[in-house]
Amino acid sequence: MSDLRTKYLGLELKNPLLVGSCGLTGTADSILNLADKGVGGIVLKSLFEEEIIMEYEKNLKEGLGHADNNLEFLDYFDYQLKRDKFDGYRRLIDDIKSKCDVPVIASINCYSVGEWFAYAKLLEEAGVNALELNLYRIPSKIQIEAREIIESYLEIVKRVKEYVTIPVSVKISPYFTDLANVVSKFDLLGVEGVVLFNRFYSPDFDLENDRIISGPVYSSARDYANTLRWVAMLKEQVTCDLCASGGVHSADTLFKMLLAGADSVQVVSALYKNGAGFVRDLLSGLQNWMVKKNLASIQDIHKLGRSMMPENAEVFERVQFMKYFGDHN
Ligand SMILES: Cc1cc2nc3c(=O)[nH]c(=O)nc-3n(C[C@H](O)[C@H](O)[C@H](O)COP(=O)(O)O)c2cc1C
Repeated sequence: MSDLRTKYLGLELKNPLLVGSCGLTGTADSILNLADKGVGGIVLKSLFEEEIIMEYEKNLKEGLGHADNNLEFLDYFDYQLKRDKFDGYRRLIDDIKSKCDVPVIASINCYSVGEWFAYAKLLEEAGVNALELNLYRIPSKIQIEAREIIESYLEIVKRVKEYVTIPVSVKISPYFTDLANVVSKFDLLGVEGVVLFNRFYSPDFDLENDRIISGPVYSSARDYANTLRWVAMLKEQVTCDLCASGGVHSADTLFKMLLAGADSVQVVSALYKNGAGFVRDLLSGLQNWMVKKNLASIQDIHKLGRSMMPENAEVFERVQFMKYFGDHN
């Protein structure tokens, strides 16, 4: 048997396969089942910043009705409210931590530089092993420039890094003009990892019933190429870890992500489609590849991947372009 152990965000993982943030990581039963199937770690279902703020404002208004502008009350209220909102998440974390030793990464879905930073600290105190910041914002307003959005992301990351000492990773979308530069800015802020990439919810029309419905929620087995490319292109250019997320539906793709240099790989849609037991198929398929290629460790996979890469990431991109599209009539 090859050794699947690896390090991600400074955490010791028994293998590089993580279950990404989703409904499957929102209940203790489901998480324990995934841990039992052998996953290397889990990213909890995101706490949503909007939820936190809405609850904060609603309760603040109700609270003010009773206590006018009493600052002590507001201080207490602020503290109490954050505690209440947090309790459910904390119970989930306690439950998992008392029943299994799978590393737990909490996720916060961040939108703004706002009121919610204390949650990062509370999550740290609750004993999670790391924090994943899900920077999910669709820049649909024509007045807002790219620079503004990136600056707000950097500010969020900077603030969170000031609040916590546990490792922090940033999960981003693939839609940046200057993706490599943006990742390098997170790297310079000292994040321990970047997750490439999030998947956006896409709406669609239901033509029969004249209403808006959800587009395809799950990725398909063909959706991995962009993640693979960016992991390969960024690996040697940044010091933080890279986690591949998007379109991993087979052991072959899992192995490819590791060849590209991923320090860990997240899977979600494939588990919704195939059930938690698919974790075992992915891991045994990875073992098979390692045996076939005579690779004893995850580091050996990285080494093999590096040996296949041209030295310069830009050359890699250009060569591929010319090779595949230049000759295509
Ligand atoms: C049903 C569902 C729920 C999700 N919920 C979250 C979430 O709460 N937070 C988050 O960061 N990503 C969420 N995601 C995105 C996944 O974590 C993952 O980044 C994306 O689905 C790409 O991976 P995949 O191709 O393996 O599905 C969700 C995805 C699905 C399908």
